[in-house]
Formats: sequence, structure tokens, C-alpha cells
Amino acid sequence: MSNINILGIESSCDDTSAAVIQNGVLKSNLIANQKIHEKYGGVIPEIASREHQKNIIPVVDQAIKEADIKKEDLSAVAFTQGPGLKGSLLVGNSFAKGLSLGLKIPLIQVNHIHGHILSSFIIEKEKETIPNFPFICLVVSGGHTQFFYVKNYFKIELIGTTLDDAAGETYDKAAKMLGLEYPGGPIIDNLAKKGNCNKFKFTTPNVKNFDFSFSGIKTNILYFINKEKKQNKNFVDENIHDLCSSIQETINKYLIMKLEKAMKEYKTNEVCVTGGVAANSNLRSHLKRICETNKYKLHLPPIKFCTDNAAMIANIGYHKFLNKKFTNQETKAKSRQSIQEI
Ligand code: KG4
Ligand code: ZN
Repeated sequence: MSNINILGIESSCDDTSAAVIQNGVLKSNLIANQKIHEKYGGVIPEIASREHQKNIIPVVDQAIKEADIKKEDLSAVAFTQGPGLKGSLLVGNSFAKGLSLGLKIPLIQVNHIHGHILSSFIIEKEKETIPNFPFICLVVSGGHTQFFYVKNYFKIELIGTTLDDAAGETYDKAAKMLGLEYPGGPIIDNLAKKGNCNKFKFTTPNVKNFDFSFSGIKTNILYFINKEKKQNKNFVDENIHDLCSSIQETINKYLIMKLEKAMKEYKTNEVCVTGGVAANSNLRSHLKRICETNKYKLHLPPIKFCTDNAAMIANIGYHKFLNKKFTNQETKAKSRQSIQEI
């Protein structure tokens, strides 16, 4: 029997990524990061789109080469349909359509969040442990903070979401207030290692059930820093480690508190946490601690599969291929897309 080779393409924000999955096992996963946004303190959509145009051909070529196949060996091409930046999505969308037409292979559209949710199913070697359904999944990234009850590959219920900013966005904005570079999450994570997490207190809003609100925390941090800077203009520099550690602890404790609540309410003992913020070392240790205490089985994908990557897109592509869930040339990029659209 011939191999099933699925090419995945991810271009929803500022990373151009391509991956190949062969018979369910990941063969290659290439990412071109766009460093150019650092100097602007955030992603500039127009620049991101142009960078994707420059990167997409070499990244796809390299992913196919590293998978040790030829493009004629591809069985289907999967791409991120949304949600994300329209101009960025369009690049991956158009490229995938062209490839599907040229090679006469099926085209598969993938919801980016669906990719994150099932990222702990990416297999690099045979016989890896994957989650058992049903499980609770927390997706914490720069654009999303959402809880899902995952019944199977294609039956996923949204049970909670942020009412305003995402957790990653909060990290990035707090970092900006502290004069740190973009993206701020990993920088805060690093600086916090030498800090005291109880030095400063920030409040978390009381929002119903499994929803979140982060805008209050952000304002709280901003007012606090401005007030302290009036007394001492070097306040931030002198307290950078404690500030990072206290801010990190506030965001992470909030996530953990809601997660424990969701696990109890949905009576499941398997949990998966993914998205860029799942790379946070303090969050990872809090998660390990509560899962050990409550005997929950924790699935934390490796960091390279937590942040945006095409392996998670190829992974969904593979499962959609097995279920013959194909799309056609009429498919459109969707900057907003709910989990019902998978
Ligand atoms: O999933 P992702 O790569 O892209 C989106 O879909 O948004 O997530 C990027 C976000 C950024 O906000 C970044 O600051 C945050 O993830 N992030 C972190 C860490 N690494 C990345 N936040 C906290 N600690 C980290 N170590
Ligand atoms: Zn993402």
C-alpha cells in the first residue's frame, strides 16, 4: 500500500510553517519566524503578509525535502483557514489551493484552534502516549484563551473563553509596560526566574464559570507601575525580576484556578494545555503540581508544538484525510472562525 503523505501549511499570524506527516507520523516541521516585528513591539499585519510571501516556497520545499519525499508523493495539502490575520491567512490559502490544483490532490481546510487543541496527538515516533477522550483542553496563546471539552477528534465543545484580551496578549502588553521587547511572554518567564512572586499583588476579576477577563489585570499593572514611577523613576529597573514574577504568578494562578474548576465540573481526569503560553515554565510547574495532587493525567505538548506550527495543521489534515473531509477551490480565508467550523 502506498504511503499517506500530508503537507500542512500554517500562516495565520507571523510564523510561516510547513510540515509533513506520513502515515500519522511527523516527518518534518519547518518554521520561519518573522523577527522583523520585534522592533515594532507587535505584529504588523501588512509586513507579516509580505514576509509569508517571501518564506512560503522555501519553507514548503524544505519540509518536503526533510520528509524525504517528492511533491508528487503528497496525498493532500492541509492549510490554516482561520482564525488569524486575513492577509497572512490568504498567503497559505492561495498557495495550498495552487498546489492542490497543480498536483491534483485533495485540499483540506483546518481551523487553527482545532490544530492547537489536538497538538498532543502529534506523533514523532510510533507508540507515543496520546490523550484519551474525553478531556479538557486549555488553549492559551497570543490571540486565544479558551477552554474546550474534547469528546473526539471532531466533537469539541467550547466551555469558556476570555471576554477581552488573551493571556498571551496580557503577557505581551505587561512586558511592553516594563519596557521589554516583543513577544514579552518568554522574556517575562526568563526574568521571573530570579524574582519573588509574592512581592506585588495584582487582582484578578471575578468572571462567571470558565470565562476569563484580562483587561482589568492589565489596567491594574499599568496604574501600579505609573504610581510607583512617580515616587521613583527607576522603580521598574530596580524591581524588574519581582515585577515579572508577580505578574506571571497572577496570570498563571488565574488560569490554574479556572482549570481546576473545569476538571471538577466535567468529571474528567485528563487535561491538555497548549498554545504559546503553555511554554511558560512557571505555568508548567503549577500544572504538574495540581495534576499530581488530583491524579489528573497531564498532556503538555513539547514547546515546539505549543507555539504556532504546521505539524498541528498536518495532524488535523491527516485525520480529516482518513475521514475524507475535503474542501474545494471556493474555500475562503476566515479571520474569525469558531470551533463549530471544523
Ligand atoms: O500560540 P502562539 O505561538 O501564537 C498565537 O496563536 O497567538 O502564542 C504566542 C503567545 C505570545 O503572546 C507569547 O508572548 C506567548 O505566546 N508566549 C509565552 C511564552 N512563550 C510564548 N508566554 C509566557 N511564557 C512563555 N514562555
Ligand atoms: Zn496559535
